[in-house]
Amino acid sequence: MGLSDRSLITMDDLSSREMEALFSMTDEMADTMGDQYNVCQGKIMASLFLEPSTRTRLSFETAMHRLGGNVITVADAKVTSLAKGESLADMARVVGSYADIIVVRHPWEGAARVVADYAGIPVINAGDGGHQHPTQTLCDLYTIRKERGDIRGLRIALWGDLKYGRTIHSLIFALAKFGADMLFCPSPGLEVPENIVRKLIAEYGGQVERVAASDRAVKDAFPLDAVYVTPSSPHQLAMMPNINLEAELREGVDALYVTRPQKERFITGTEQEGLKERYPVVDKKLLRGREFRKTIVMHPLPRVDELAYDIDADPRSIYFQQAARGVPIRMALLALLLGAREWPASSTAGPTIPGVEYPVYRRDSGVRCDNPACVSVQESEAQYLKPEFKVVSRDPLTLRCVYCEHGYQPEYVATTDWHEGKLEYKIYHRADSHWAKRIKPENLIVFTSAEEAEAHGYKAGRYPGTQHRENDTGE
Ligand code: NCD
Repeated sequence: MGLSDRSLITMDDLSSREMEALFSMTDEMADTMGDQYNVCQGKIMASLFLEPSTRTRLSFETAMHRLGGNVITVADAKVTSLAKGESLADMARVVGSYADIIVVRHPWEGAARVVADYAGIPVINAGDGGHQHPTQTLCDLYTIRKERGDIRGLRIALWGDLKYGRTIHSLIFALAKFGADMLFCPSPGLEVPENIVRKLIAEYGGQVERVAASDRAVKDAFPLDAVYVTPSSPHQLAMMPNINLEAELREGVDALYVTRPQKERFITGTEQEGLKERYPVVDKKLLRGREFRKTIVMHPLPRVDELAYDIDADPRSIYFQQAARGVPIRMALLALLLGAREWPASSTAGPTIPGVEYPVYRRDSGVRCDNPACVSVQESEAQYLKPEFKVVSRDPLTLRCVYCEHGYQPEYVATTDWHEGKLEYKIYHRADSHWAKRIKPENLIVFTSAEEAEAHGYKAGRYPGTQHRENDTGE
């Protein structure tokens, strides 16, 4: 299958082979930038940027102009009917009838998926809240590949706000696909979210280790609390039982990927408190460390205080080249998604996307995603979006929202097949009980609280509060 008519919403949508092919086409676009003006002639790209942007919007628009296509733009949510309460679905249907492709940036997590579900034309996610930003990742990978030749086996440190940084989230999955090792170096309190770590392990074959930076040498290089590592073999579990971080670092870090604190997404006051003192800075002094001798310093930009201006002239600093590569990479992507360029046959051979099939949980009423930034819980969207989850684990029972991918662990469950219309059989159980584990995924009903279960006419199981005694009772 080629890329034509497909959307790009998360890194799950592209295999490593497809990315390799995209990078080859990017090389061609970069070398012949001025000769591509008839590739997308007559095509229209709608660029909907409902959150601030400089690089992403302008590089997409430059790319489309260089391909000879046309651009219609919204760069401020306040001037659209969204400000009047219009839903994303309605906007997507309308814009989908005007343009050939949509590029969308929105503060809600999962917004790009909703636009893709309703637009009827290819959609590119240019950043949906703190969720993902796949085209920035393409730019990042292309840069690493250009500077280092191959991505496989590299040691890449991800630095700063790993909790809300959407570029980080997309990059983690992409690096895992290419088999790079990652050192997660979060500012304290801004660690990689659990749902991402869980997916990395379950679907991308990641082995994650927490290493305390207690050693002095390590502390000097990484003035941070915790570091994690993933293995270099993609799609299979590698064993890394005792990581010696000092030894790892002696080998050197190939790339340092720095990010700013995403203050606009902070939920709690503690995330903001003392941030300036806590947030790690990359400067001349840090880069003097032996482990950074050959390190390339990257940043998706914009920077705030975390990347000192005193390293701009250092040959290891490549963030402005990284930004410049946004144009040819987006030219290649637009040409492929619009079907204006053929997808090389080599890119489509063999299974390269990790394919884990999970049962789907979808009910008209009841549990909703508990992420306040998720598109599915916003007032304008909740009227038509049905909550939908994947059941990614039975023990502990964990649902993953299909929109924002946050994990949710319900407390109570019931089954649709035991009550057969009789009220006395409508029983709810604790989600960690022996009864709960016997419920088939297609019969599962989940409740946020006992009150909710009771409001739906369910009665407590014999020992709903005590998993142990409930197990003892047998059938
Ligand atoms: C990033 C973004 O918007 O997520 N910027 C970008 O697209 N180049 C990073 C950021 O805003 O910190």
